[in-house]
Parts: sequence; structure tokens; C-alpha cells
Amino acid sequence: MSVYKSLYDTMPDGREVYVYKIENNNGVYVELLTRGATLSSFVCPDRDGNMGDIIMGFDSLAGHLATTTYAGQIIGQYANRICDGRFTLGGREYNVTKNENGVTCLHGGDEYSSALWKAIITDDNAVEFSYHSPDGAEGFPGNVDITVQYVLTDHGELEIHYAATSDKDTVMNFTNHAYFNLGTVQSGDILGTVLQLNCDSFTPTDARSIPTGEIRPVEGTAFDFRAPKPIGRDIGADDEQLRQCKGYDHNFCINGEAGTLRLAAKALDEGCGRKLEVWTDLPGIQLYTGNFLDGSETGKGGVALQKHYGFCLETQYYPDTPNQPAFPSCERKAGETFRSLTIFKV
Ligand code: BGC
Repeated sequence: MSVYKSLYDTMPDGREVYVYKIENNNGVYVELLTRGATLSSFVCPDRDGNMGDIIMGFDSLAGHLATTTYAGQIIGQYANRICDGRFTLGGREYNVTKNENGVTCLHGGDEYSSALWKAIITDDNAVEFSYHSPDGAEGFPGNVDITVQYVLTDHGELEIHYAATSDKDTVMNFTNHAYFNLGTVQSGDILGTVLQLNCDSFTPTDARSIPTGEIRPVEGTAFDFRAPKPIGRDIGADDEQLRQCKGYDHNFCINGEAGTLRLAAKALDEGCGRKLEVWTDLPGIQLYTGNFLDGSETGKGGVALQKHYGFCLETQYYPDTPNQPAFPSCERKAGETFRSLTIFKV
């Protein structure tokens, strides 16, 4: 195992951005940027041993700075959406950033995802990123200190360990917003990728992508990924949920106990043989099929990032949990540590 740090580039304001490369004994490696604690590459072999990068992303800092996709970034303080950018906690109303159509809070704004994180090498296969979010940033209560530790094992597991503490009662929901393309982005769209989700139900949304509160069984719907099927097989089905999101952009409820590490998703590119498993202790996972990619951003190797050129499996609390008392709670008391683990295994 080895880990190296090098200068990646310099921000327009002169601050330095570093890249950390962790490589295992099989030549599998990840690259991580201090900007957004971003997972910028995950390079692994196909069935013939050809190495390829399964992360849809960018070749330059300029690409990472310009993107509106949150590609590979760590999202906080609340991943996904909060209805009307507002919630009540401890009898007090909080108004947070309304960065989607001036109405909805999406991914907590861009505080965590665009921050320059501190980083230290904690082992020969591990890097820990840390960030301090001041009380009131993007409207969220509490001074929050967060660490995100990435660990790469010889079994091809990229563990992402989250730990965060606030000095006030608050809400927390962190994720990594990587877009995957198991054939590499040069192979085109991900509609042929075979996906299996360990999820019996999902949370339907209204036209603003806010959960209605219903927990709907996937049985008999296009959302049934309990048996493996190509992502594209039912994506065009006559289903209001798919129409309004232009594809899958939904939270699935992961079977089994939240708080327990369990398999949430499995994906396979049958063409090249690269696969991905997602394990997590969180209650939900957002399947987002890159519906809003429109070719306007240029990714690695000069490839225009078109619709469905990557898929995301964002482990999370359910969207809009702060306004949905029946959903598993994302509240954390002052001084209580939020801990969570997600594993991307190739
Ligand atoms: C959301 C999408 C959004 C994407 C990029 C996903 O988590 O569910 O609606 O377009 O992130 O922000």
C-alpha cells in the first residue's frame, strides 16, 4: 500500500489544492482532492486486467470549480433537499440556503463541497480530511467539526468514514456525490449497467423532488431493482415519478437495520466486467442517473458529459427528513458525534 501527496493546482485566490493518491497492492488506486474532499478518480481493472477510471469527473481544477454537478464532492450539512429551505428544531425555525430555484435547499448549498479541507495521511492506505463549519453557515445551527477519512484496502474497498460534532443541536446528513461509469466515461452512457438494489421501497416525490412522505413498495413498479436489471430497462416507463425527474432521481429505503453496515447496491458493466458494491449503515440511498447532465460540461479526456453518462449512489438520510417526523431522524444533539460508514467496493 502507498499514499502520496502532491500539489494539484492553485485556486484563483492563490490557495493551494493538494491531491492524495492511495494505491493498494493490486494497482487499484483512488485520487482525492482537498477541494471538496473530492473523490476524483477510482482506477481499477476490467475482466482482462485493463485499468480504467470509473469516476466521472474532470482533468483540471478549473473543471472541478466550474461544475454544478457536485461530482465526487463531500456534501453537507444536509445532503439532498430540504423543502422551502426551512425546518423547525427545538421550537425554533431555521432558514437555510435556497439554492434550487430560489425555493429549495439542495445539498446544503455549496459550503462543504467547495471548501478547501485540511488533510493528513493517517496510515499507508488512509487520508483524513477535516473541516470546520461555523455556526450559521448556510443557515444551519452549530459550529460543526467534521472529519472524513478515506481508506483503501487490498480488497478494493474504499471506506468513507464520517464523524461530525456540533456545539448546538442540529441536523446532519453527509454523503459523497461520486458519479460512476464502470466502463469509463469514454464508453458513453450508463443505461446498460446492471444494477441491483437491496431496497423494497422508495420515497416518491412531488414535482420539486420533495418526498411526499409516502414510503412506496417497489413491487410492480419501474423502481424494482431487487433482481439485477439494466438501469435503462424501465427508465422510460410510463410513470409520473420518472417523467418528472427525467429518469431516476429518488431515495430508496435500504432493507435491514440503519446503523448496521449492509449491502445497499451492486452494479456491473457486463461489457467490461467492472463492478461496484455499495455498503452503508445509513437508512437511504439516492439513485440519480445523471438526468440533468446536458453536454455543457467537459469531463476527463475531453468527453462532453451528456445525459446519463454517470450514475450516483448517494448514501444518506431520506431527503427532507427535518420536515418529515416519520422518517429516520437526522438530528444530533450538541456534543453528540454523528458517525457513519459507506464503502464503495470494486
Ligand atoms: C439530486 C439531483 C441533482 C444532483 C446534482 C442529486 O443528489 O437528487 O436532483 O441534480 O444531485 O445536484
